[in-house]
Amino acid sequence: MSKADLIVGLQWGDEGKGKIVDHMAQTHDYVCRFAGGHNAGHTIVIGDKKYALHLIPSGVLNPKAKNVVGNGVVLSPVDFIKEMQQFDNLEGRLFLSDKAHMLLPYHALIDQAKERMKGDKAIGTTGKGIGPAYGDKVARVGHRLGELLDPAKMTEKIVSFFEMNKPLFDAMGVDAPIEADLLAELEGYKKILEPFICDTTQLMWKIMDEEKKILLEGAQGTMLDIDHGTYPYVTSSSTVSAGACAGLGLNPKDIGKVTGIAKAYCTRVGNGPFPSEDFGAEGDKLRENGHEFGTTTGRPRRCGWFDAVAMRHAVRVNGVDQVALMKLDVLDGFEEVKVCVAYEVDGKEVNYVPYDLEDATAIYKSFPGWDKTEGVRAFDELPETAKSYIEALEAMIGTKMGIISTSPEREDTIIR
Ligand code: IMP
Repeated sequence: MSKADLIVGLQWGDEGKGKIVDHMAQTHDYVCRFAGGHNAGHTIVIGDKKYALHLIPSGVLNPKAKNVVGNGVVLSPVDFIKEMQQFDNLEGRLFLSDKAHMLLPYHALIDQAKERMKGDKAIGTTGKGIGPAYGDKVARVGHRLGELLDPAKMTEKIVSFFEMNKPLFDAMGVDAPIEADLLAELEGYKKILEPFICDTTQLMWKIMDEEKKILLEGAQGTMLDIDHGTYPYVTSSSTVSAGACAGLGLNPKDIGKVTGIAKAYCTRVGNGPFPSEDFGAEGDKLRENGHEFGTTTGRPRRCGWFDAVAMRHAVRVNGVDQVALMKLDVLDGFEEVKVCVAYEVDGKEVNYVPYDLEDATAIYKSFPGWDKTEGVRAFDELPETAKSYIEALEAMIGTKMGIISTSPEREDTIIR
């Protein structure tokens, strides 16, 4: 039986997973998403065409690969259908779990209303409805894709859902959808999505037995994980390795090599603690050099330095075998490069991620900078100071950086 390769984000998302997943998708038979929704996103340029992927796995760009959206995902039919329209001939190449929960338009309205109500305590969500959709799933009142295949049962569930929830919609100042309109909308989704909906757990077991090469594509990052991130400033799913099992019906023994993706510095979108954030000119320079603006929402990202403490946490939680260090070239031209090596909490030095990162300030170690790594394709050709920086990071996190990326181009990648 084969083992599935897994890609996970080790920071606050936006680590550059896209480049690595696209590269690996060329050599895998199946690419599978296990968590999150259309809050994630990356843009891929092939020739003169640009593709925006939010939920469809990156294997869609390799004509030979097949794509699975697992039960751990929340899927907005309307947004998914828009995304599908970028591609022809998806039948037989795209499989959607009948157990994946639907994210419906009212989830986004509730998400935005709750954020407004929170005021300056807002999480800074993408406003797409992710929290409310997962909330309904966990509260056992959600609607799964499989329901589209059984309209009588779906109607009954929708009617009872609205009977229960109308007062809540009113209290939040959210216009509750009209039942009949929602049912008609769902009927429309059914027509398009029905050929793709299936029992993906059975499919996963079958392709594992057939020794297919399988790539599991994580979304967001470890520090946004519902359990292991900076709660409550997190997303609502399990973004870590364990989420890949639960979100696809795999068991831990099915997982093979785990590649954790991290940038050579750190960014975060939305609110919440970020101890190594740089509020000064250097943070601005990181944002400009790294084009750090959100793909899904266009928001400027908060920027700062590599956080070795959070990274050790992420390496352990995910069982990372190798790190892919992305965007090393963004640090080109800095006189010195800082790394957060510990936190100070209540006057004490702490070298793990504590209960509340809000109270932590970064303790830094500085490294001499370098002129240029952009486009370098061999480790030995990197400037000595860049090599020392990478080796110091490896020693701090106890893991090899097996892949180093030095530009957005696929070829500008060092493999060690
Ligand atoms: P939500 O996932 O829309 O509920 O947002 C919760 C938090 O996760 C917010 O801080 C978002 O900015 C962050 N977030 C969600 N998806 C992504 C992503 O793909 N990249 C980076 N941050 C994300």
